[in-house]
Amino acid sequence: MSRHHATVAEAAPRAGAPDGRSLPRLLAEVPSREPMSLDHHLAVHGELPHEHRHGRRHESALIERVERAGLRGRGGAGFPTAVKLRAVAHGRRPIVVINAAEGEPASLKDRTLSELLPHLMLDGGELAAQAVGAEEVIVCVCESAIAGVESVSAAIEERSGESSVRMQLSTVPTGYVAGQESALVNHLNGGPALPTFTPPMPFEQGVRRRPTLINNAETLAQLALIARYGSTWFRELGTPSQPGSALVTLSGPVAYPGVYEIEHGASLASLIDAAGGTTAAARAALLGGYAGAWIDGSLLGGLSLSDEHLATHGASLGAGVVLLLSQDACPVAETASVARWLADQSARQCGPCLNGLDALAATVEEIAGGTVEGNASKRIERLAALVRRRGACGHPDGTVRLILSAVETFAAEFADHARHGPCEACDRAPELPLPARSTRNARRREPVAF
Ligand SMILES: Cc1cc2nc3c(=O)[nH]c(=O)nc-3n(C[C@H](O)[C@H](O)[C@H](O)COP(=O)(O)O)c2cc1C
Ligand code: SF4
Repeated sequence: MSRHHATVAEAAPRAGAPDGRSLPRLLAEVPSREPMSLDHHLAVHGELPHEHRHGRRHESALIERVERAGLRGRGGAGFPTAVKLRAVAHGRRPIVVINAAEGEPASLKDRTLSELLPHLMLDGGELAAQAVGAEEVIVCVCESAIAGVESVSAAIEERSGESSVRMQLSTVPTGYVAGQESALVNHLNGGPALPTFTPPMPFEQGVRRRPTLINNAETLAQLALIARYGSTWFRELGTPSQPGSALVTLSGPVAYPGVYEIEHGASLASLIDAAGGTTAAARAALLGGYAGAWIDGSLLGGLSLSDEHLATHGASLGAGVVLLLSQDACPVAETASVARWLADQSARQCGPCLNGLDALAATVEEIAGGTVEGNASKRIERLAALVRRRGACGHPDGTVRLILSAVETFAAEFADHARHGPCEACDRAPELPLPARSTRNARRREPVAF
């Protein structure tokens, strides 16, 4: 915004910058209902830094800063953000896309940003555009996230005349694969919101065949803070390999499920404490989302929320999902319903999804119903091998990861169902959320510094 100038190079932590060691950062003064206005946003975070690239060959100071900060994408894959920025910065007339589609039903963090803190995410889009030399930013929000759509639309209006770039909102059809980056490009080019085969990758040829930077809403919100307060400030929280804070959607048997901001490496126990503690014993936790992995309840006491630590359990934070499953739920029935939903979400345009995911979901359903014939785990392994790394997008791989992790974590329950059929808990209403809910329904507590 032109009325708020300070160059990025100057924007080392300024006097009055928030303490780098404390939380909240992204969620500072987050309102509980109405979106944060532009004036309130500027009062909390200060003016938007502004940088001018001096010619096409001049590296942006912000890209260097993002690299030093070690920022990685928050859309699930954890790709280094500076590498993406650099790839697009070399292209002709690039476009920036803010991915707030959030097709993951267990995640509410991008809805929270869209609904309540739209200016932070728009700042990130504007700053990224300046860094890569783009004049256009497109914000993609899921059409069913009505409050988010309204809030982003009003925020774009509030910034009109003040912004250094053209900003536009695009509503994306509801669906798990609609937020995948090639699906967004396809949608923005007038096609269906379904993934396409790559290459060309969006950074090479995306929206209107132009180089396109696609970043998750939280990634860009984090970038907006790094631009203001610097990489050293960013690294004051988190671990050396995963610096900074993260938005996490905690759900399951806790007193206050909702979106929390944590320091990477915080203990799961401290997150649960911040959410008012558990309301029932947890049998297991799902980390990362529906393309993520289960961790057995016996290990949750010592769990630290960093990818380095979670990797030792075959898991990662992914899109920031932490979902506790209560002791009373049936993990086999829950896996069967999520596997079916994931299979149904497939675009049914490549072989692995068309043939593999349906068969995998059917096998899990047969196990849950006790009607499976032959060696079910061998069948799952064979189908998984047929599907993995064969799709146009990562959807089949994510679904396989979840199913294999469930089969391993709940081996005794799967064997019991295959032999004896449904258990008593199978009749309970499913705990795992399908489909997406609104943050307006989620009780949220003030974030707690861990
Ligand atoms: C099936 C599937 C669905 C996805 N859905 C989303 C989504 O809803 N939001 C999102 O930010 N990324 C989603 N992604 C990841 C995006 O393709 C892309 O990697 C991400 O937006 C890049 O942003 P980041 O580098 O900031 O994480 C999805 C990926 C897959 C394979
Ligand atoms: S792998 Fe599945 S979800 Fe991905 S593009 Fe192919 S059919 Fe669609």
